[in-house]
Amino acid sequence: MNVRFADRRPEGAYALAFPQQAGQADSDRLTSLLGDGAGLVRQAATAARFEGEAGSVAEVFAPEGAGVRRVLLAGLGDGDQDAQYERAGGALVAKVQMSGEKTLVIDFTGHKGTAERAARLAYGALLRSWRYDVYRTKLKPSQKPSLDEIVIVGAGEGAEAAWTSLKAIADGVAFTRELVTEPANIIYPESFVERCQKLKELGVEITVLGPEEMTKLGMGALLGVAQGSRRPARLLAMRWKGSDAEPVAFVGKGVTFDTGGISIKPAAGMEDMKWDMGGAGAVAGAMLALAGRKAKAHVIGVCGLVENMPDGNAQRPGDVVTSMSGQTIEVINTDAEGRLVLCDAITWVQKTYGVKTVIDLATLTGAMIISLGHEHGGLFSNDDGLADKILSSAKASGDTLWRFPMGDAYDKLIDSPIADMKNVGPRYGGSITAAQFIKRFVEDGVKWAHLDIAGMVWAAKPGATWDKGATGFGVRLIDRFVADHLEG
Ligand code: BES
Ligand code: ZN
Ligand code: ZN
Repeated sequence: MNVRFADRRPEGAYALAFPQQAGQADSDRLTSLLGDGAGLVRQAATAARFEGEAGSVAEVFAPEGAGVRRVLLAGLGDGDQDAQYERAGGALVAKVQMSGEKTLVIDFTGHKGTAERAARLAYGALLRSWRYDVYRTKLKPSQKPSLDEIVIVGAGEGAEAAWTSLKAIADGVAFTRELVTEPANIIYPESFVERCQKLKELGVEITVLGPEEMTKLGMGALLGVAQGSRRPARLLAMRWKGSDAEPVAFVGKGVTFDTGGISIKPAAGMEDMKWDMGGAGAVAGAMLALAGRKAKAHVIGVCGLVENMPDGNAQRPGDVVTSMSGQTIEVINTDAEGRLVLCDAITWVQKTYGVKTVIDLATLTGAMIISLGHEHGGLFSNDDGLADKILSSAKASGDTLWRFPMGDAYDKLIDSPIADMKNVGPRYGGSITAAQFIKRFVEDGVKWAHLDIAGMVWAAKPGATWDKGATGFGVRLIDRFVADHLEG
């Protein structure tokens, strides 16, 4: 999808949209922009019960000269928040993308919103337009998206500057969605790393470790998960040095497919586990966004990449592995593999870069979905200040989180009779004991937060700025956290 800004409407055929605040008829503005057709559009919108509610769209065919023009009113709701504009952009695209129209012109002329808000609307539109049709070879022309260009008219000065950053973030979201959508025969540890090589062109420094190096470093927990797969594990580090500050690390769970291993999952729905690398996908997409908009921050993104398979060499329930930290783990359930991958990735990033802030993202527990459904990810942290910063950025970005408690009583539940800890606790509080497990690998003086995003990376239904499927959750959150708390 191409997005451009213009002073006046182009010639020729296109769908024409006007953003509109709730409860405001905007009569004068419409008349000045649409001339004779304005009355008809208003009447038709009223007949369709359009009241300008956020995300609502009225669609009208209005005569224009000898022909007819598709006109859309895009509701913004009350107030004046970025999210309302994103939602309106998303709703317009959802309406027009398959309609046969190639161009959507969104006319801001005379609208009281700022140029930045116009860019926000374009951003919502672009995010909502993302789809991945590479494996659909038999689509009829009418099943393919027709829309290929959005023209924002009359946004005024500053829209394009705002757009440059937003476009970079949208590119990051798109990259995450692509990684998450690809099936596990296409995206596995090595090919995940391969797709991330393009970040080099943006100035991101890339480091990759394979099984030999990881063995030398003593990453027995991560390698134990990988040993049942034909796909060799990778640890991928992406560094964006946009400032001289101390770096902050984001660490993603990248289980490119999670069968459960020997503790194998039931067949029904197992295909979902191709997106068990959503944390790593978010980290990679966020690095693309940060580098793309040249963020003035020093950030390290680490992805622990493995495939969790059952074979003759797979680890068994009851096996004891030694992590890079030196702590030993009794693997009670091979399906609780994400924490085994994260613990070594987190130890590595602390030892290698001396980071004092670590934030991990992981599709870690099914219990998270039981707790929060698909509306919030879970947040766990050893530091209230960091937790508050993340929560505020989460809210502002639209990638929402809800904080959970932690504590010694939960921690005790993962003590093991044979090793330093076991990889699962009792049935209840499963997301919290998973977080307590990871916390045992956070070094003294390091601020840490864990985001359990199991319910957020894949959507069964379309949302405001995504279609059903991969949401790209986490990219906007990381970007916003960096912008709010590390830059400037
Ligand atoms: N990847 C899963 C968690 C998951 C489940 C994410 C469903 C998204 C949807 C994770 O590796 C897992 O299997 N966790 C187990 C932990 C249990 C064995 C303690 C789970 O949640 O059942
Ligand atoms: Zn699992
Ligand atoms: Zn998993």
